[in-house]
Amino acid sequence: MRWDEDTIQSVKDANDVVEFVSQHLPLKKSGSNFKALCPFHQEKTPSFMVNPARQIFHCFGCNTGGDIIRFVMLYEGLPFIEAVTKLAGRAGIELPRTGTGERPDREEKDQLFRANRIAAGYFNDILMKDREGEQARNYLGSRGIHSEACRIYGIGYALDEWRALAPVLKKEGLSLKESVGSGLLVQSEGKDPYDRFRNRIMFPIRDLSGRVLGFGGRVLDETLPKYVNTPETVIYHKGDSLFGIDIAAPYIREAEEVLLVEGYLDVIALHQAGIGNVVGVLGTALTQQQARRIRRLTTNCVLLFDADEAGRKAVMRSGEILLEEGFRCRVAPLDPGEDPDSYLQKKGPERLLEKTAQSLPIISFVLEDAREQFGEEGVDDRLKVLDAIVPYLAKIKDRVVLGLYLKEIGDELRIEQGDLRARLTSVKSRDQRRLKREQEPGPKLHRREELLLHIMVRDPVAAQKVKEQISPDDLESPELSKIVEKIFSGVTFDNLISSIDDRMKDLISGWALEDPIEGTDRALDDCLSWFAKRKLENSIQETKKKLHEAEKRGDEKEFGKLTRKWQELIKLMRKQKKTGSPTEDNGPATSPGGEALE
Ligand code: UTP
Ligand code: MN
Repeated sequence: MRWDEDTIQSVKDANDVVEFVSQHLPLKKSGSNFKALCPFHQEKTPSFMVNPARQIFHCFGCNTGGDIIRFVMLYEGLPFIEAVTKLAGRAGIELPRTGTGERPDREEKDQLFRANRIAAGYFNDILMKDREGEQARNYLGSRGIHSEACRIYGIGYALDEWRALAPVLKKEGLSLKESVGSGLLVQSEGKDPYDRFRNRIMFPIRDLSGRVLGFGGRVLDETLPKYVNTPETVIYHKGDSLFGIDIAAPYIREAEEVLLVEGYLDVIALHQAGIGNVVGVLGTALTQQQARRIRRLTTNCVLLFDADEAGRKAVMRSGEILLEEGFRCRVAPLDPGEDPDSYLQKKGPERLLEKTAQSLPIISFVLEDAREQFGEEGVDDRLKVLDAIVPYLAKIKDRVVLGLYLKEIGDELRIEQGDLRARLTSVKSRDQRRLKREQEPGPKLHRREELLLHIMVRDPVAAQKVKEQISPDDLESPELSKIVEKIFSGVTFDNLISSIDDRMKDLISGWALEDPIEGTDRALDDCLSWFAKRKLENSIQETKKKLHEAEKRGDEKEFGKLTRKWQELIKLMRKQKKTGSPTEDNGPATSPGGEALE
């Protein structure tokens, strides 16, 4: 980590989580918390809470929570360092540039971003100003792209030369390794490194905060390949970027909707036509990572893909992902052979807006598509249509919406509701099994240990009592043991939340925000005596094992000593049972809320 705990704490102290969140979400007072619809999952009634006293948030719907830094990271899609920097900036705190302890991979990434920024500026200058950029300017002019759009999107031109960019990067102090690492230069064996992009219109691909991740470079004519793209680098991953997201973000937030298109030119054409809430998925279907980036801005999506076979397939796949990620998704089919750019040129913005206004819900689109493909005369045809549509239905999270579709589809395909639901259930359980296999579960936490920590987090007095009776070693789960140790050492709640991993943040922020409940004392006593019992049982087992060993060795002295110890332990155990400790029967423990745990 780059800054010490105190620095991070001072940044947190200078920002109020309620005030910050309320700038992004409408918060309503609710008891000692504030409530809103959760920005991290789709919901109809608010389960997202912010607590001013503890300076944390937690959603009881999707179990995401943590401090203000985590909120900024999740909400704005920023890495830790940038989230802290942002919060510091907003509070007017100057962060020390320690330089020491800076993670090397961070430094490497920063250098790649710098290389890309320099290259983007260099390409853009040539396009906008140089004589050598004239042909590219003419080409873009012929495609109806104005210089204002070139400025906004940072479009450029890479000269028709093998070594034009290389010296520019070198002059800016970038090493060969960094220049090649950014994908801008290519190093092949026995040759001097050369420019990857030559004689191409350059489209910088930027992230939400405007950093250049990579480039797509288009030829100025019909030669192939049409595009050369940045290869996988430390900062550029195909399928994890969205063209125009930085420019579109405010428009998307305002419209509460995003238009997804395939290509660079589609994005720019729509923007020029006054439609700002548009981003490009860059060729293939939308990926889950892209969907998650968009979800931070809106969960309403209109797919405006090319009206060809590839575009149709991309719609099908993207729609499935969007439903899975909790989006409402509609499709605006264009006339055959058109893409949004060509459609705009031919028909103008009004007609395009009409198209998007008439867009079909993805379910209707898939249904139409399947009926066209299979027909609906015979039973077999209708079953095929059903099979095509069910995977999409299985991804709909909203019960009411699902119910409405089931009704409609049942009627249209003449299938009984019960049969339809049965088919849906079997597909869903298949999906879930697959999902379970894919998700690697975190290490299992022990229920009682979890309960103990739960009580400690809720109630500092209880935490003190626990400290008197239990040592961190008494917890078997290393994750929980570490946290208990931290609490014993007296760290503040704020520091605790900052220092634990995301899974623990989700858990603990939830516990900390529960409403006050009865029965904590009893639950704590239950829990403590359960720990005492487990400890005793463990020593009995241990002693027994040693007894056997001593017996085998014929070590009479040791055997006698251990027998006495064993008898004492058994006595202790009997006593424990007599005192009527509620743990004797191994019955279910109760959580502080009183509901049974197991
Ligand atoms: P298109 O072939 O539709 O290109 O690919 P386009 O951008 O609309 O360009 P024009 O209108 O034909 O001039 C859509 C997107 O797919 C990616 C690019 O991101 C492109 O914008 N693509 C396409 C590639 O990455 N490589 C390719 O060879 C082709
Ligand atoms: Mn296209």
